[in-house]
Amino acid sequence: MESFDVEVEAGMVVLDAIHRIQSTEAPDLAVRWNCKAGKCGSCSAEINGHPGLTCMTRISDFPEEESITVQPMKTFPVIKDLVTDVSWNYEVNKRIAPHQHTKDSDPRMFQEEINRTQEFRKCIECFLCQDVCHVLRDHDLKDEFAGPRFMVRLAGLEMNPLDEGDRLSDIREKHGVGFCNITKCCTTVCPENITITDNAIIPLKERVVDEYYDPLKWIWNKTIGKNFEV
Ligand code: SF4
Ligand code: SF4
Ligand code: FES
Repeated sequence: MESFDVEVEAGMVVLDAIHRIQSTEAPDLAVRWNCKAGKCGSCSAEINGHPGLTCMTRISDFPEEESITVQPMKTFPVIKDLVTDVSWNYEVNKRIAPHQHTKDSDPRMFQEEINRTQEFRKCIECFLCQDVCHVLRDHDLKDEFAGPRFMVRLAGLEMNPLDEGDRLSDIREKHGVGFCNITKCCTTVCPENITITDNAIIPLKERVVDEYYDPLKWIWNKTIGKNFEV
């Protein structure tokens, strides 16, 4: 950790202060950023211990007399200074079966179906939700649990009426939805205000429970249902 004194002007965000440090005192200070508008998801860090986008966090949000501590996301390995290696997330992404839609199926959707999945498309892949999730952060269950960002992607696919893929078995086994214990920390830090837990994870859990743990369905599958397999 290193301390710097930065002259602050009205309207400055934490990323501005980091840029000022780079241009005056530490030209080799590594930080990832791109849009400075809260849309590329690159500038994620922990600001006074709270995961957030440095380009969207105003310095005026903190008491004037106190210093601000900026650290890299803890859940991912540090490459240098504030830059972390988030490539694990892209590997998880590849494990998700993509949208499946045959050419001759009806391409129409109702507005309510569009509304239901629209918020999932706002994800900017900042990975702040992955950073704060204790399953990944404290227990390091990266092989077992895909994390909240990918539950959002899976929910977007599963709730899309045009999608013909069947991912329930993967959601349960490969992506480990059962590891989430609904603490809602991911929802709290999402800069896009996606209601990750209530709108994505809980419906996925309900679908898995209906499919694998409903006793009536189990009896049906073991008896009559079996005869109707195609
Ligand atoms: S609600 Fe689930 S996915 Fe979100 S932070 Fe908590 S354990 Fe992780
Ligand atoms: S769901 Fe929200 S917090 Fe998670 S990666 Fe997407 S935008 Fe970031
Ligand atoms: S620089 Fe793009 S989200 Fe912060």
